[in-house]
Amino acid sequence: MTQDTQNIQNIQWWQRGVIYQVYPRSFYDSDGDGLGDLNGLIAKLDYLRDLGIDAVWVSPFYPSPDADFGYDVTDHTAVDPRLGDLAAFDRLLAGLHDRGMKLIIDLVVTYVSDQHPWFIEARASRTSPKRDWFLWADAKPDGSPPNNWLSAFGGSGWQWDSATGQYYYHSFTAQQPDLNWRNPDLQAAMYEIARFWLERGVDGFRIDAAHWILKDPDLRDNPPNTAPPSDVARSMGEYDTQLHLYDKGHPNCHAVFAAYRRLIDSYSTPEHPRFAVGEIHVFDWPEWAKYYGENLTGLHMPFNFGLVGAAWRVPVIRGVVEGVEAAVPAGGWPNYVLGNHDEPRIAGRIGRVAARAAMLLLLTLRGTPTIYQGDEIGMENGIIPPDRILDPWGKFNPAMNRDVARTPFQWSAGPNAGFSPAGGQTWLPTHPNADSGVNVADQEPDPASMLNLTRALLRLRRGSVALYGGTYQTIPHTPEDVYAYLRSHGADRLLIVLNFAADSRPVGVRGSGDVLLSTDPERPSGTVDLAALRLHPHEGLIIKIGAEIGYNSLP
Ligand code: NOJ
Repeated sequence: MTQDTQNIQNIQWWQRGVIYQVYPRSFYDSDGDGLGDLNGLIAKLDYLRDLGIDAVWVSPFYPSPDADFGYDVTDHTAVDPRLGDLAAFDRLLAGLHDRGMKLIIDLVVTYVSDQHPWFIEARASRTSPKRDWFLWADAKPDGSPPNNWLSAFGGSGWQWDSATGQYYYHSFTAQQPDLNWRNPDLQAAMYEIARFWLERGVDGFRIDAAHWILKDPDLRDNPPNTAPPSDVARSMGEYDTQLHLYDKGHPNCHAVFAAYRRLIDSYSTPEHPRFAVGEIHVFDWPEWAKYYGENLTGLHMPFNFGLVGAAWRVPVIRGVVEGVEAAVPAGGWPNYVLGNHDEPRIAGRIGRVAARAAMLLLLTLRGTPTIYQGDEIGMENGIIPPDRILDPWGKFNPAMNRDVARTPFQWSAGPNAGFSPAGGQTWLPTHPNADSGVNVADQEPDPASMLNLTRALLRLRRGSVALYGGTYQTIPHTPEDVYAYLRSHGADRLLIVLNFAADSRPVGVRGSGDVLLSTDPERPSGTVDLAALRLHPHEGLIIKIGAEIGYNSLP
């Protein structure tokens, strides 16, 4: 285990800070077309500053036919006219920087839209100069696909192109042909896109589907998966029937990330450090940690999705944290997320009360937290009538419908939840609970609200060197359903205790401390005798303990 804390003054903004993910189609609609847009995001920058986050990651705003809602890109260096234009992008960047926040954008590198000029050219003929920018293969003699690889959204990953008589490969929808990262011209074109945005001033990238960038060049079949279902990785239906040995994560992908790293670092200065976080769905922690690259020459961070699908039970959650802590290489920096635009809402998964404790967990672990928009007000899974499902995965398998996490942000109890002017229809339905307190306007004046809890946690984290930069240590031998850990740096020593049960529990620690924050508004602050303290149902607590006092966990 390596926990580098000696150079705390030198840690970068993306290590010390908290990232907030904006899904722009659902954040705020400034022009009344029912779809969120960049001007809408700009209008809400003061809200984000007052929330207390440090950086915004914006999901794709590029022109897209919406086969996968922005992740099927037709032009990587433009803004979809429904969402704005490059001038709006520049205002967004300046607006964030003026308020002391950073901007991270999504870099979609593994596929393009089938309407992208590159693919239109590639599919025009087998001899097209762009043909090799994509993955083509002949049918088997019986006409079936070249191998058994599956699309993550269901069915074969191979799509027949009758005009040229070959299959092309798509890891996701058939409207997203995968790029051939073994072609040097394609590589150069992709790096040029990153340069475009770095020169425009972005602070970082979230590299989309990074894990899928390179596959087995021999197109070997994936073997069947016989492992029992995981209690950490979310089930993906048919996709889980295979061990994905050959259709993603080819070892050469690390060379691609190292090249991105060099490029990004070449634009970094002490005044303007940049960074990249990659979307890596790997739950074997030593394997996941390889994405930091040899001697940290890879991604600055691979996203850690360990808490996204994990069952809300102490051994599982603690296992994720300890697994990650043990795997992060020396000098590497951990990170955690509870949800994003692809996953069911945390409040939907574990309930609204436990979601308060989950937010405390996210914001007190060692490493960079990313908050998904709306989780700070406790948004729940949207209710989507079958005829309004838009998500391609949800159309294939309603149980996987990701629209539930993408419903419009709830600004008020007004029409369209304050997301979009009255009268029009929002692109996805708003959640009815916007009328019963799950909205910003109602939560703002309420000291007990989820919004004010999140703000208090963010304030505490910003002011505590133990939280943003200190070490992590599990407290062993806690009572059943209690997870406790220590975050400390010098004299700043915080005991974090979480009760995963729906009834009260002892803390299991002796000594005394000062309660700094509880997820339960009924909990008084002040000095407590830890041995006598009982946690309320689903409560999370942050307790300051003095070096001289220490703690002894009860056996
Ligand atoms: C990863 C994105 O997070 C997800 O929303 C998208 O569907 C896939 N890439 C495929 O485009």
